[in-house]
Amino acid sequence: METGIDINDFKKAVGSFVTGITVVSATSKFGPVGFTCQSFTSLSLSPPMILISVAKTSRTYSTISQCKRFCVNILDVDGEPIARDFAEVEPEIRFVKHPWKMNSGGNPVLAAALAWLDCDLSETIDVEDHLIILGRVLTLGCSEGSEAPLAYFRGSFGGFKKLSR
Ligand SMILES: Cc1cc2nc3c(=O)[nH]c(=O)nc-3n(C[C@H](O)[C@H](O)[C@H](O)COP(=O)(O)O)c2cc1C
Repeated sequence: METGIDINDFKKAVGSFVTGITVVSATSKFGPVGFTCQSFTSLSLSPPMILISVAKTSRTYSTISQCKRFCVNILDVDGEPIARDFAEVEPEIRFVKHPWKMNSGGNPVLAAALAWLDCDLSETIDVEDHLIILGRVLTLGCSEGSEAPLAYFRGSFGGFKKLSR
C-alpha cells in the first residue's frame, strides 16, 4: 500500500530509537551461518521468549527455518567490525574472520559476545517484506568481562554511557 512516506524519512525516524546490535547465528550443513540483526527484542518472561525481524531475502533465515534453532549474540562495544562483516561480507567467510565456539545447543557463539541466547524457533509471522521470528529461549550465557554494549543510532555505531549509579 502506497503511504506517501519517504523511505529515508522513515529510516531516520525509526533510526532515532537507539538499539543494541546482535549477530543471529545458526548451523547449516555447510557450517556456521549468521547475520547482523538490530531488530531483537525481549518478548515474554514466562516462558522466556524473544523476537527478531528478518528480511525475506535473508540467506541465514533459510537455515534457521530448516534446523528450527538459532542463537542471538549480543555484541559488545568492540563489535563494530563484526557487525559490519556479518552484514557485508560473503556468508561463507563471516565466521572465518571472528573467533567462535559451539554452544550446547549446537549453534555458534562469538567469543566477543556480551551475552547470547539459544532459541527454538517457535513461530514465524509473515509481514510484508519481513518475517517476525519468535524464539523460545532454551539456554543462555553472559560475559563476566565487558559491560559495554555496542549501540546503533541513525546509521552510526557508538557506545553507551551510564548517567547515574
Ligand atoms: C546495523 C545493522 C542492522 C541490521 N539489522 C537487520 C535486521 O534487524 N534484520 C535483517 O533482516 N537484516 C538486518 N541487517 C542487514 C543484514 O545484516 C544483511 O542484509 C545481511 O547481509 C544478511 O545476511 P544473510 O543473507 O546471510 O542472512 C542489518 C544490518 C546492519 C549493518
